[in-house]
Amino acid sequence: MKWLAHAPANIALIKYMGKHDASQNVPINSSLSYTLANLLTYVELETTSTPHDVWEPLDIPGTTEFHLSAAGQQRFLRHLTYLKQQFGYTGHFIVRSCNNFPAQTGLASSASSFAALTQCTMIACNELLHSQPLSATQLATLSQVGSGSSCRSFFTPWALWTPTSVSTIALPYANLIHQVVIISHQPKTVSSSQAHQQVTTSPLFAERAQRAEQRLQQLLTALHQQHWPDAYRICWDEFHDMHQLFATSEQPFHYLTDASRTVLNRLDHVWQQTGDGPLVTMDAGPNIHLLYRPDQQALAHQLHQQLFLGNFDVL
Ligand code: DP6
Repeated sequence: MKWLAHAPANIALIKYMGKHDASQNVPINSSLSYTLANLLTYVELETTSTPHDVWEPLDIPGTTEFHLSAAGQQRFLRHLTYLKQQFGYTGHFIVRSCNNFPAQTGLASSASSFAALTQCTMIACNELLHSQPLSATQLATLSQVGSGSSCRSFFTPWALWTPTSVSTIALPYANLIHQVVIISHQPKTVSSSQAHQQVTTSPLFAERAQRAEQRLQQLLTALHQQHWPDAYRICWDEFHDMHQLFATSEQPFHYLTDASRTVLNRLDHVWQQTGDGPLVTMDAGPNIHLLYRPDQQALAHQLHQQLFLGNFDVL
């Protein structure tokens, strides 16, 4: 028997960085994300009589060949084991997965992968055990144990994750346009999971939760009131805050390269010149994420042509 599910990635504007409880991925602060409906992970589960679960790449027309490191496969299978325990299923699966976005784009996909695995395991176990589906909140809470940020992928278009709850939040701007400027195709040397640990050694970490909560309130106000320039400035400060934590940890690490600084400066210049532009953010990686309002479609095209084309890949 076989089951297929998919789940989207998400981009945080207020970042999850630092954990209260690493075993359950309980965050030290609330985060706010926008769900990226076009960036998907597909997961297929097939029952098998072998005495353990195995991972394989999934071949879906229109997707490129998908590789997962040995450590990545183990982490994925560990989450499957956890989910099966939660659902009370003792059999084994061949689990296959792939993304609909090209490999080697430097885009982390743990949020979409763990959300899709959680969703697919529920569907499979419901049929195998004749049990009832869980709510989005219950699924998100299970998914969080595999990878924290994946819990936000169950809610669209906006997700608010606090240390004690996760849900959708009604905000204007339900149809944003997303672009990613690919600064580097290299795999990250420090994973997000490692980053969560290393930032705790930064002198800036003590006040981090307070700054993030304050910025969250400011961003919610800006979005509710549709003050786009305020939203831009808050998102800008927020990702720089996170990258400062990286730079000031006991073993500093950096994602901001000369190329990323050049792109960031050009984007800020657009804002200075016109008083308008996309929201800009960066995760624990080198790529630059842009969110445009639907009425900025022409600007998205223009920036692609004028700033990025020939210099950087844009997804
Ligand atoms: C920088 O969810 O990847 O992208 O819970 O250890 O799997 P684990 O970490 P992960 O952390 C994502 C951190 C971030 C910011 C964010 O998405 O909020």
